[in-house]
Amino acid sequence: STQPCLTTCFNISLTFFFATGNTTEGIVDYSNVESKFSLRTAEVPDDDLCYIVPGQPDTVAGCSFNLETQTFVVIHGWTVTGMFESWVPKLVAALYKREPTANVIVVDWLNRAQQHYPTSAAYTKLVGQDVAKFVNWLENEIGYPWEKVHLLGYSLGAHVAGIAGFLTNHKVHRITGLDPAGPGFEFADPQSTLSPDDANFVDVLHTNTRGSPDRSIGIQRPVGHVDIYPNGGTFQPGCDLQNTMLMIATTGFQNMDQIVKCSHERSIHLFIDSLVNKEKQSMAYRCNKKEAFDKGLCLSCRKNRCNTLGYQVNKVRSRRSAKMYLKTREMMPFKVFHYQVKVHLFSQDKLEFTEQPMKMSLYGTDGEAEAIAFTLPLLYSNTTVSFLLTTDVNVGDLLKVTLQWENDSLFSLSSWWSSNKFWVRRLRIKSGETQAKVIFSAKNGEFAFLSRGGDHAVFVKSKDQQSSRKEERRHKRKMQGSLFTKSTE
Ligand SMILES: *[C@@H]1O[C@H](CO)[C@@H](O)[C@H](O)[C@H]1NC(C)=O
Ligand SMILES: *[C@@H]1O[C@H](CO)[C@@H](O)[C@H](O)[C@H]1NC(C)=O
Ligand SMILES: *[C@@H]1O[C@H](CO)[C@@H](O)[C@H](O)[C@H]1NC(C)=O
Repeated sequence: STQPCLTTCFNISLTFFFATGNTTEGIVDYSNVESKFSLRTAEVPDDDLCYIVPGQPDTVAGCSFNLETQTFVVIHGWTVTGMFESWVPKLVAALYKREPTANVIVVDWLNRAQQHYPTSAAYTKLVGQDVAKFVNWLENEIGYPWEKVHLLGYSLGAHVAGIAGFLTNHKVHRITGLDPAGPGFEFADPQSTLSPDDANFVDVLHTNTRGSPDRSIGIQRPVGHVDIYPNGGTFQPGCDLQNTMLMIATTGFQNMDQIVKCSHERSIHLFIDSLVNKEKQSMAYRCNKKEAFDKGLCLSCRKNRCNTLGYQVNKVRSRRSAKMYLKTREMMPFKVFHYQVKVHLFSQDKLEFTEQPMKMSLYGTDGEAEAIAFTLPLLYSNTTVSFLLTTDVNVGDLLKVTLQWENDSLFSLSSWWSSNKFWVRRLRIKSGETQAKVIFSAKNGEFAFLSRGGDHAVFVKSKDQQSSRKEERRHKRKMQGSLFTKSTE
């Protein structure tokens, strides 16, 4: 249990900080600053060529620090190897690509970061203090505006950023937490972890929260103003065992720690994606529960319910931090388009199916996405199902869709005796990205048929788009009515 140490260490370092941090006289002791601040360049993003040393103003000019532009401070996390991980130069290069005149500073606390995890975790206090001293020094001695400082911390580095933000004289502009570390921090107080009070704006990506609280690699609870949980936050696509084996086969076991951290590190690559793929910004949507999101129920953008993931996030500072969700691809660019599909299934006889494999195709003004496979958890007579459909293809405005019910692998003989056909009059589709709601009706006749193992049902954009509020309400009442009847049976 690292908790008592964290608290004690923190109180000690806090006292120490305020005792030595008397800046009014201009005599601040920087001799105990162990962390190093390397100003990297766009030309050489992977090497430390020039350090800015707090207390030594000549190093600012010596490294050609640009006082006119913004500064990114990149803070790494725990390391097994004691070396910078491969993502560091990638993030540096991406920051320069997006903001060529900015200063990108990499904090080097590798010595303290390569200890036994609880020791390194406790060191976040001292490193946070180092970073705070650095920022205060830039502000007080060099006259650099603190509103231009953006701290980016990964894993333990996210908590370092939080502690630094808490200790600076003025709040820094922004802190981005990239999958803040979980063990030792899930139940810790806000002063020892990243929290919304640590900067004017705090945005957080949670990508590896699988496991029990305080045991998962990434922290589970929201710790910023905007907390985004890609793919539910637990685990990321492309990080499964099959891909792991492939990576071992191609890169060998020496990258084992990289492989283990696939989901954890995905937070960084999602942020890099937002920097370099300006035209493919991923959208995230506020939702109370991951399960509701997976049913497509949370694709609203009203009242800041949706936001852009990463660099271009809309800086909404709500009182209560809200969890936001999205799906992504397994590689860069990560963006997908989200759709909620609602379909009412009629049948004469009572039918009930679970976990059914389906396929849907979307045809739009700009392209098509064919045979998107997904599983419907429940098909039930005379009820409306709602589900989330995603594709990485930008189809534009939807014109036609098809829906097909696949044979499942356990297609049983009994299915032969009974009818396994639903009647569908229309589909309602809402796009998360455009917020457009479109009604589709059966292409041929009043109904299309959805039968197991049968042909796909074809729907075209309905001529009467009865999407008026009144119609919506009427529809909702009808749905509730049918659900009510069902539940009282
Ligand atoms: C800080 O500096 C002020 C102004 O010079 C001085 O009055 C005060 O005693 C100093 N405080 C500490 C804790 O050194
Ligand atoms: C479903 O609704 C239709 C039309 O209202 C009705 O004819 C049919 O009997 C219902 N089926 C079941 C299983 O309740
Ligand atoms: C589904 O299975 C049935 C019975 O085995 C078969 O007749 C049908 O062609 C299959 N449909 C598809 C789309 O594979």
